[in-house]
Amino acid sequence: MELVSAPVRFVIDITYRCNMHCTHCHAKAGEVAPRLLENELTTTEVTDLLKELDEMKVFDITITGGEPILRSDLIEIIRYSRNLNFSTLTLITNGSLVSEETAKSLLHAGLNQIRVSLDGLESVNDEIRGPGNFEKATKGIENLLKFFPSLKILTVLTRKNYKNFPELTEYLAELGVKRQDVIPVRKLGRASSMLGLCSQEINWIYAETLKLNQKLKNSFCLVLNCPMMRIGTEIAEIKDVCGYIEDDRGSGATVITNGDIFLNRLWGKEKLGNLRENKFRDIWERSFQERTKKKHTITDKEKSGELTNIYYNIP
Ligand SMILES: C[S@@+](CC[C@H](N)C(=O)[O-])C[C@H]1O[C@@H](n2cnc3c(N)ncnc32)[C@H](O)[C@@H]1O
Ligand code: SF4
Repeated sequence: MELVSAPVRFVIDITYRCNMHCTHCHAKAGEVAPRLLENELTTTEVTDLLKELDEMKVFDITITGGEPILRSDLIEIIRYSRNLNFSTLTLITNGSLVSEETAKSLLHAGLNQIRVSLDGLESVNDEIRGPGNFEKATKGIENLLKFFPSLKILTVLTRKNYKNFPELTEYLAELGVKRQDVIPVRKLGRASSMLGLCSQEINWIYAETLKLNQKLKNSFCLVLNCPMMRIGTEIAEIKDVCGYIEDDRGSGATVITNGDIFLNRLWGKEKLGNLRENKFRDIWERSFQERTKKKHTITDKEKSGELTNIYYNIP
């Protein structure tokens, strides 16, 4: 196999601070080790990285966290990226802190994709995301829709909220949203001890997405974002598994708040290096052996849904 010259997709966990404390948060925002909360990458460290990623011809940048809107330099970082050549620059936010002014600034700074998380209608969402947060997020979504009509909602489904998602989808369609991904919870971080969705539940969700897409015709695009599953089969291998199994040879990479680099934020194994010690290009090229030595196969541990929090390595 030839050296992959750059990851296609690069995810930046820009902060682990957050104004919410969601029950399923894989980033464990709000209870993250101090070494990941303090000494976040500075504005210059982030923009230097973006410049390097651009030179390496990375296509797709996603900024997430924690809650990225809490970074006071977020607009500056996005504005910096506007002069680079990424095909997409995406922000994932809980939406609750997005005023109309912020939405406008994000657009003018050069952001081209936005995802907002909402996990159910009011009481269902607030049980997961905290009291009052449905209303705040909905206001943020309305503000964002004025500037980002292609905004997408991300809805994480657990055994507690999955039955509620069709009502949420219909509500979103009325609000003027046009896209939503429903995503089975991954058993990481605060969701480590949750029961995952079983294959019957996932097949039910899939059947509902078909019905809803048909009902909402071309005005809405609802996607079951579950790359592991093979639709319609008895999916024994995904029973209770909520993993995201991707090829580990270099389609993506992630930096976290302290500069540590991983291949994949969800089952990332060892870190490849740290930006404060080496340039990303050197880390990438030196990790060739690590990235190519074997294709990832689903382990028994992953099959059983017992994915541990390897990525964050939080004590
Ligand atoms: C970690 S959050 C960070 C951005 C922002 N704070 C938010 O909530 O959108 C990014 C996305 O990951 C989702 N997420 C969090 N924990 C998850 C889990 N255990 N499994 C799947 N998705 C999860 C969130 O719901 C959100 O859509
Ligand atoms: S999912 Fe997002 S909003 Fe919720 S606690 Fe995690 S980082 Fe914060």
